[in-house]
Amino acid sequence: MSPWRELAAALADELVRLDKLRSPEWIAAVRTVPRHELVPVHYRYDEATGSWTRHPTSDDLPLVYSNTALFVLPGGRSSTSMPGLMTRMLESLDLHDDQDVLEIGTGTGYNAGLLAHRLGDQHVTSVDIETDLVELARRRLARIGYAPTLVAADGVTGHEASAPYHRIIVTCSVHAVPWAWIEQLRPAGLLLADLKLSPLAGNLVLLRRDGDRAEGRFDPTYASFMPMRHAAVPDTPAHLTTRIRTGPRTHHRPRPPPPLGAWRRLVPRAPRPPCRNAVHPPP
Ligand SMILES: C[S@@+](CC[C@H](N)C(=O)[O-])C[C@H]1O[C@@H](n2cnc3c(N)ncnc32)[C@H](O)[C@@H]1O
Repeated sequence: MSPWRELAAALADELVRLDKLRSPEWIAAVRTVPRHELVPVHYRYDEATGSWTRHPTSDDLPLVYSNTALFVLPGGRSSTSMPGLMTRMLESLDLHDDQDVLEIGTGTGYNAGLLAHRLGDQHVTSVDIETDLVELARRRLARIGYAPTLVAADGVTGHEASAPYHRIIVTCSVHAVPWAWIEQLRPAGLLLADLKLSPLAGNLVLLRRDGDRAEGRFDPTYASFMPMRHAAVPDTPAHLTTRIRTGPRTHHRPRPPPPLGAWRRLVPRAPRPPCRNAVHPPP
């Protein structure tokens, strides 16, 4: 067995031990997708010099096959998340054969590779705002035999062209769930996102589409993703229409008109998860 295969198998075993990986399908994906091919270099921040240093992953294969997040752009603009967080998210999405998935936040393409291994290329679409990363991910995934649909775009509007999706997984954090994501879900489809209502809160919320609304629960365990960025729009838009399901409604007049469609803001009614939340379409 080649060294990386042994390391990938050991990583799968470790994630099983940590109870972050359970199902045979995802165990097989972790053992099969070569993370080092998708993360050939990573960056570390050197506090002494205040600069980022570049490290070829081939120098430290055990690191790339450990349950470790690695920065893949200097400045921390993109990373590959902890494999255990990814597998926990993938398993909680309860994916089945022939289901279509949209990922927001392609990054290295590792998660897209796991999805493509599990579902087949034709069922996987992944979007990232960093055009260069998308091209690198496309090339590296092709080299190892995967060709999901990769799109360089702001994922805040999802990706209408491949919709509807059975599942949407968001690997950057948001302050609010864009209504476009819910619209692009099939009935009873699931969306999993890190809804970061404050900088210290790391709340994965799993929402199920039910007609013209989406409801779900927060996962009680901590998760943290980098914030979603936008080219031209501030990431905490003050002009978004807001409505709290059971509380008073608040409407902000668009200032300027929302360029990216209507959003919903989710506000938990209870201070601690799990708690029920719902997203509704624009009035
Ligand atoms: C934690 S990384 C994703 C890791 C990735 N899933 C992987 O397997 O390597 C978060 C990604 O979200 C992307 N991102 C940030 N804002 C975005 C946006 N508005 N639309 C799409 N992607 C965005 C970043 O460029 C970054 O690559």
